Amino acid sequence: MVADDKGVLAMDESHPTCNKRFAKLGIPQTEEARRAYRELLITTPGLGESISGVILFDETIRQQKKDGTPFIKVITDAGIIPGIKVDAGAKDMAGHPGEKITEGLDGLRERLAEYFQMGARFAKWRAVITVGDGVPSRSGLEANAHALARYAALCQEAGLVPIVEPEVLMDGEHTLERCRRVTEEALRNVFIQLNCQRVLLEGIILKPNMVLPGLTCPQQASDEAVADATVQCLLRNVPAAVPGIAFLSGGQSAELASARLNAMNARFKSRVPWALSFSYGRALQQPALEIWHDDEANVKAAQQALLRRVRCNRAARRGEYTTAMEGI
Ligand code: 13P
Repeated sequence: MVADDKGVLAMDESHPTCNKRFAKLGIPQTEEARRAYRELLITTPGLGESISGVILFDETIRQQKKDGTPFIKVITDAGIIPGIKVDAGAKDMAGHPGEKITEGLDGLRERLAEYFQMGARFAKWRAVITVGDGVPSRSGLEANAHALARYAALCQEAGLVPIVEPEVLMDGEHTLERCRRVTEEALRNVFIQLNCQRVLLEGIILKPNMVLPGLTCPQQASDEAVADATVQCLLRNVPAAVPGIAFLSGGQSAELASARLNAMNARFKSRVPWALSFSYGRALQQPALEIWHDDEANVKAAQQALLRRVRCNRAARRGEYTTAMEGI
């Protein structure tokens, strides 16, 4: 999943999230619109040259192209590994105002078996960690790490590679330093719990946030400062047995997500034990979605926009991305 400088395309938005993004652009929030949009993404010619895996949602893994070809077949024929989001979303955590806990462990063993049968070979579960006054709490971090580890153990039992995603959100005024401390604490908890649940670290992909100042923090950071803080945080907390780290984009612009990944690889690629890769949703898809606008006539141009993003990020994996590539 992290070989050959490729990355993962996250296209596993739940109905509410996908509909919200469609609504912003005036796209109808229907099953057919979601299907047509996902067909556009997976049929992009040349996608498999830069993308190793795509993360699907329960609705999407069961869908077909307009001509009846199952999405799973389209993806595997393109040389891409199909994956599936299996958490049931982040809900308010009882007794913990301002914190979320991800649900979905009940019945997970059976759902994983079904997804494996359908052709999925990896899975994703996202824990959501908010930074604010007095949050996250120790118990919030522990509960989310425990759920991630229970999920990861069930995935490995089912023959699926778990993507373990503890996301420290960008929302808020917090500084880069605060994000670094919270991310460290979150990762420390995650690896304690992964070990407790006997998860084989060689068989996971970690999907963390980059260490960033909050979106409304008055002091934003250079790409190099983000790269330094992120890699330092990872070196302190992620065992060398983990083969790959594939970042989420978390609401960064497409260009910033590429530039920051590039800065990490340009500065540290030869000195870190894991591959530093990408598993972006918005930072890969957003330009394509805006061009498409639910109009068949725009499909080719939207696919070109997606291709540009995946190529820029493949270059960023090598530390070879430049802003000049944005104009190509
Ligand atoms: P973003 O890159 O848009 O944050 O999405 C990645 C993802 O899979 C979120 O769970």
